[in-house]
Amino acid sequence: MEKRINDLIANMTLEEKASLCSGVGAWHTKAIERLDIPAIMMSDGPHGLRKVIEDDENGNQTLESVCFPPAVNLASSWDRDLVKQVGQILGETCQAEGISIILGPAANIKRSPLCGRNFEYFSEDPYLSSEMANAHITGVQSQGVGTSLKHFAANNQEHMRMSINAHIDERTLREIYLNSFERSVKEAKPWTLMCAYNKINDIFCSEHQELLTGILRDEWGYEGLVVSDWGAVNERVDALQAGLELEMPSSDGIGEKKIIEAVKAGILKESTLDHAVRMILNLVFKALENKRTFHAYDKNQDHSKAQKVAEESMVLLRNKDHILPIKESKKIAVIGEFAKKPRYQGGGSSHIKSFKVDTPLDEIKKLATDADVEYAQGYDINTDEIDNTYIEEAKEKAQQSELTIVFAGLPERYESEGYDRTHLKLPPNHNRLIEEVAKVQENIIVVLSNGSPVEIPWINSVKGILEAYLGGQGMGRAVANLIFGKSNPCGKLAETFAVRLNHNPSYLNFPGEGDQVHYAEGIFVGYRYYEKKEINPLFPFGFGLSYTSFDYSQLRADKTEITDEETLQVSFKVKNTGKMQGKEIVQLYVAKPETKIIRPLKELKGFAKVELEPGQEKAVTIELNKRSFAYYNTAIKDWHVESGDYHILIGASSADIRLQTTVSVTSTVKIKPFYHRNTTIGELMEDPKAKPVIEQMAQQITKGMGLSDISKENPAIALNMVRYLPLRGLINFSKGAFTEAILEEILDKLNRN
Ligand code: GLC
Repeated sequence: MEKRINDLIANMTLEEKASLCSGVGAWHTKAIERLDIPAIMMSDGPHGLRKVIEDDENGNQTLESVCFPPAVNLASSWDRDLVKQVGQILGETCQAEGISIILGPAANIKRSPLCGRNFEYFSEDPYLSSEMANAHITGVQSQGVGTSLKHFAANNQEHMRMSINAHIDERTLREIYLNSFERSVKEAKPWTLMCAYNKINDIFCSEHQELLTGILRDEWGYEGLVVSDWGAVNERVDALQAGLELEMPSSDGIGEKKIIEAVKAGILKESTLDHAVRMILNLVFKALENKRTFHAYDKNQDHSKAQKVAEESMVLLRNKDHILPIKESKKIAVIGEFAKKPRYQGGGSSHIKSFKVDTPLDEIKKLATDADVEYAQGYDINTDEIDNTYIEEAKEKAQQSELTIVFAGLPERYESEGYDRTHLKLPPNHNRLIEEVAKVQENIIVVLSNGSPVEIPWINSVKGILEAYLGGQGMGRAVANLIFGKSNPCGKLAETFAVRLNHNPSYLNFPGEGDQVHYAEGIFVGYRYYEKKEINPLFPFGFGLSYTSFDYSQLRADKTEITDEETLQVSFKVKNTGKMQGKEIVQLYVAKPETKIIRPLKELKGFAKVELEPGQEKAVTIELNKRSFAYYNTAIKDWHVESGDYHILIGASSADIRLQTTVSVTSTVKIKPFYHRNTTIGELMEDPKAKPVIEQMAQQITKGMGLSDISKENPAIALNMVRYLPLRGLINFSKGAFTEAILEEILDKLNRN
């Protein structure tokens, strides 16, 4: 292959090379018939194939497909294998439809619950996000179809997304926003990465040399191709030099022309262009090599899978008086237009033309055969206006029922690719409906359909809340199966639900001002913030109820002491102590109570999902490694482990820790301090090697500072009083006893040993 590609490049004209670096239309790479180089097609995902089949006068028509639950649901399943299965089905569908790359998964971190695309992203936590992205990528690529891990990086808002400049400090960028991509790049090896629209620290991602080459290729060893988000290229030549090989969509020759002119002018080395062409040809021929003649896939079978995925991802948030699962009820009121017209996916490029959709009302009627099921619309999904006619009708049906199920949530106009929310509230007509119905009926279950967290002012007026999120085209049956107990809810939140928007860490800096946004909260995103600030959330990260109960026991680590070059096996047992089969998502957090580093109270570093029959117990083992304990040290520009004791916490949620043990970790990486004229006395005193030098000078220092009387009585106090004095300060106060020359000599001695 390498020889074939090198021969092709050797035979290409400059124009042909440049032409390959931009797409044809919106979805294809360029073919060069003369050289027998075919085009390949790419299409959106990430949770269903959105293949544009024609671009006619009334917009583009897309192929009817199966709409799986989007990332917000997939992540709430915490189920690597399930997400991988979704990827496999997507890959199979792409093969059958001639698609070589599916444009997903999207692994951007949920910095604010207001982001319009949160439905398409996995989590506020980079470890969970990267594990889900890995599963998705591995699943799709196992079918010989490529993925495009996106949007690299820090595309965390839709507001001004194509020009916003995200100011992010290096540690935050590394530990939160890049971390979600890093582990996917290294472990799942996506065929392509899609660069984001925005800038990071003043440079567009599409031309960010450090991001696309320094970090992605040189540091992480990524060998795939970078494709732009659609229209994300600012300056084509800068982008090519920074490491962006393929501009999408076609720029109608403009990008190519700039490349040709730059090569001719000697601004762009032809070898740089050749390298990009080589990457593109590698991708094209890899796609062709992996093409398989697939039998026609079965959309109905995939629909059933989508429904199962929805069931495994929905989160039971409240179950007062065990109102769920619904026991035999004779009169059930189903209220809310979402019951007939469900919101089951997000808006924008990921929007799927579903070949069929289960509606909750129909599916409830199918299961509640011995009950009288009455429906009331409750509100109009196309407006926020409160319609009292709808309200009164709903109250009447609710009053006549034994049990009322209200379907509420966020209509598509509230959140989508392309725009963010400005508040966390549900539509006023949804809130009013629930408040009014609660006046006449106490047995209320609310099913929420929303792509991101909402405020829940009526939480204590209802007994059951099922967070369905956007459950894909099979959500209707999934909801019915869960509320009637045909299956047991087993999803847990992959993001925090705050009580109020202004509790969120990004609140003061979202979506920024003008075209500037500052990630001033730093690494304290999501639960990292709420826990540190002791702000109680409405529902914590990792929370989800079940119809059964689980007991955790026998936590042990295979070592009590390790170095940062060793791994640690942590094992414990989980038992189903209830009467119903269930799945439990167990979470492992790492905490370092004694630390010199600014850090969250704890961070997620492992999880597993365990299926248990009633009474069944299983052992879970989670392996930890250096990165489970490390923080990003900007001084050495690398991940570093602070030596000392770490707590290993096993939880049913971030706020429900069941087991704890301690392990001592010793770093094998000594960070050699570099002393300079502005190093303080205090810093030197903390270094065992430097301390004696300073103590020898104590007399001189304190005398120079006029502290010799104190020093005589108690030198430690005197030195403490000068702890923040930079070394250079001694020169001014030592009446000649301490000179620049002596300072240099001391610094040289300190930095040498
Ligand atoms: C959009 C989205 C990206 C999508 C691409 C193609 O602008 O940002 O996620 O894959 O363009 O539709």
